[in-house]
Amino acid sequence: MRVLTVVGARPQFIKAAIVGRALRERGGIEERLVHTGQHYDRQMSDVFFEELEIPHPAHSLGIGSCSHGQQTGRMLERLDDVLDAEVPDCVLLYGDTNSTLAGALAAVKRHVPVAHVEAGLRSFDLKMPEEVNRVLTDRVSRWLFCPTQTAVENLAAEGLRQGVFLVGDVMYDSAVYFAGVAEAKVDPFARLGLVRKQYVLVTCHRAANTDDPSRLSSIVRAAQSIARRIPVLLPLHPRTRQAVAGAGLSWGTDVRICEPLSYLEMLSLERQAAAVLTDSGGVQKEAFFFGVPCVTMRSETEWTETLLERANVLVDADEMRITAAVFEQLDRRTPLPDAAAHYGGGRASARIAEMLANG
Ligand code: UD1
Ligand code: UDP
Repeated sequence: MRVLTVVGARPQFIKAAIVGRALRERGGIEERLVHTGQHYDRQMSDVFFEELEIPHPAHSLGIGSCSHGQQTGRMLERLDDVLDAEVPDCVLLYGDTNSTLAGALAAVKRHVPVAHVEAGLRSFDLKMPEEVNRVLTDRVSRWLFCPTQTAVENLAAEGLRQGVFLVGDVMYDSAVYFAGVAEAKVDPFARLGLVRKQYVLVTCHRAANTDDPSRLSSIVRAAQSIARRIPVLLPLHPRTRQAVAGAGLSWGTDVRICEPLSYLEMLSLERQAAAVLTDSGGVQKEAFFFGVPCVTMRSETEWTETLLERANVLVDADEMRITAAVFEQLDRRTPLPDAAAHYGGGRASARIAEMLANG
């Protein structure tokens, strides 16, 4: 079985790292990687390949940043050539980025079966670029690898029942596996001047938040208010760095800004945070995995199980609601639910490898 994996953005490198390990362990599968170049800064790309020992891509397309249409179109054109050269039995895709959609279109046009990891997630908001990418990719996939029962039900509601497999969440596998590695290998606390359980970890990159100056300004002001009570660390996504500068905003002096972090550092910092404030899909879930209370700056989530017992609270991008919810999470005394039951017990990648190997 020859698998061609298409990745391009930060969370896809992380997912491909853990599934790639499972494919090699299973045997009988030859995997080749394509990096579209959607993310290209060292801290958004190379650092993951090195730290997580991801094999060097066989093809680096170097597409870079441009409009959605241009980016997806350029990837599609280049992927066509790659498929010509590789002739894979299957194209393996992750999540919901433009790299995912380009991979799906390129493959289906050539009648190459598509395997989609994280199939069935929905926000039900087609204005969100990721939602369009998910719906279209799922529609043309032969293997729909769902992380949760909710994802299976979402597909059923769209009439997709064939090739649907509830395998669990590969990000859970990854967090379990790499948290142990992180413990042994990295200690970001001294470098960043943080004390365990005495800081809030913040991330923000969602287009709906960064591209709307009034939402972005609310988020900046909320981070500043929180930082007056407890240290706040914000590893800054390049999109948000540019948006804040472009809108003439400033994080002020109390919010601690740093470059995007490596995955192992990020896992360590999530695990030891007093609370997490984010608009990231992956980060809100990792907080849940580690039993760290979370506040999510969106009005909906694809990961509805994280909302159990207010382990994760949705606040949209309202300054007062964000601040109040973070303070409430910092003051909470009630225990958080056990995440382990929801995500397939750390065997999602192995299940995917087995199904792909069996064709
Ligand atoms: C993309 C995905 C999003 C995912 C996120 C993970 C789409 C539509 N969105 O969003 O689903 O959650 O990745 O982080 O695919 N930039 C740099 N250096 C980089 C990468 C990006 O400076 O290495 C800047 C560029 O100005 C670029 C902007 O960030 O225009 C946004 O990058 P892009 O990949 O288009 O979208 P993300 O917001 O990263
Ligand atoms: N992440 C990281 N360094 C950072 C921020 C995030 O390694 O500075 C990891 C995070 O732990 C998670 C993944 O990147 O595993 C989430 O990616 P992101 O928030 O960019 O995208 P999303 O999950 O929202 O698609």
